Amino acid sequence: MFLKAFSCRVLASFPRRKPLCAQYAALGHPKRSYYNAGKPGCPGPGEAAHVRVVDLRSDTVTKPGPAMRQAMAQAEVGDDVMGEDPTVNELQKLAAEMFGMEASLFVPSGTMSNLIAVMVHCRERSDEMIVGDLSHMHIYEQGGSAQLAGVHATTVTTRPDGTFDLKQLESKIRHGYPDPHYPRTRLICVENTHNIQGGRVLPLPFLQEVRALADRYGLSVHMDGARLMNAAVALGVPPSSILQHMHTVSVCLSKGLGSPVGTMLAGPRDFISRAVRCRKAVGGGMRQAGVLAAAGKLSLLEMVGRLEDDHHNAKTFALALLDCEPSLFDVDMSAVETNILRFRIKDPALSPPEVCALMGQVGEGEEAALGQGVRVLMFPHYENSIRAVWHLGISPEDTQLAIKKMQFVAGQHLNSRT
Ligand SMILES: Cc1ncc(COP(=O)(O)O)c(C=O)c1O
Repeated sequence: MFLKAFSCRVLASFPRRKPLCAQYAALGHPKRSYYNAGKPGCPGPGEAAHVRVVDLRSDTVTKPGPAMRQAMAQAEVGDDVMGEDPTVNELQKLAAEMFGMEASLFVPSGTMSNLIAVMVHCRERSDEMIVGDLSHMHIYEQGGSAQLAGVHATTVTTRPDGTFDLKQLESKIRHGYPDPHYPRTRLICVENTHNIQGGRVLPLPFLQEVRALADRYGLSVHMDGARLMNAAVALGVPPSSILQHMHTVSVCLSKGLGSPVGTMLAGPRDFISRAVRCRKAVGGGMRQAGVLAAAGKLSLLEMVGRLEDDHHNAKTFALALLDCEPSLFDVDMSAVETNILRFRIKDPALSPPEVCALMGQVGEGEEAALGQGVRVLMFPHYENSIRAVWHLGISPEDTQLAIKKMQFVAGQHLNSRT
């Protein structure tokens, strides 16, 4: 009785939460309308036919085109949990060959693929992995390695180029085992390209040194290579040249490579055999997955070459930011290596959420000035920056429209201050 009265009072003392859409609108976060697209008051991309939407929020927003849909429709399928889906088997063989690994496994998502890798590399409770403090595995995967795999994580500082200081990395390796006070270090994880740091490509000598360090201490190295193919294209090398320094890798098909679903986890044959068991345990065993694997095959065979276009478009936009009059934006061009661009606003009176809001809506007088309404969708990002990501849904013309829009917004801002 007392408890009930208490909890009613406590609950009543919390303000009622507004719907997410209203909360984000109040914060000026146009990006979050993504989660509410289609709800009243939160128009989703493409709703108004006369308005062009340039969606730079992520390379995960791509939609399969006609050729991919046709390949999916025509895929031969079987029960993949029984190992009988011919298209999945072909995809796994293809990925293993491309990556220079013994075997690979088709997994529903990048998050699950990283989790499975951790589960296989760190098999005992109290095993520990070392990850970058700004890595996707550490920041954006809900602590799944602890939550679901019972694995402890320790972090190293992620440098602006996505690498770590090797001395700091070495200092994080535990030597106490089997003293019961300590976890046992088993795994080092790297991320390539580095998402939060703006699509940075890890240099090959760094990977070589990480591997040499790992070998000295009997550790494994896993690469979260969600955008590995962007790294390979940027370096002008085959993915296997990057992966020669890794024990295992996770590569997403559903980002720049344009598949609707799927990630390839690759490594030694015995690692993949164990990964098959873990995938089933976490609910990732799929049945007639050939319809998805057909898209994945197309991604690996036909979509890699075009990543160069995304890198080029990202650079074009970055240069235009620097050229913008009035000078409002700050970009480190040497950091623009692939399809992800991070930039900052010089004027402290204008915040990243405000700029994203202005870019994401059709402003007054815009249609007359630009010839049409343009909504450019981007996310406010880490360290007071804005993130924009190029992908197969963004043409050079879209990029030019985004540049015009950005110049329009900068001009409006100048007018509002004079
Ligand atoms: C670097 C990196 N790793 C892993 C993932 C997770 O992929 P998924 O969304 O398929 O779970 C992402 C997703 O954006 C990512 O950027």
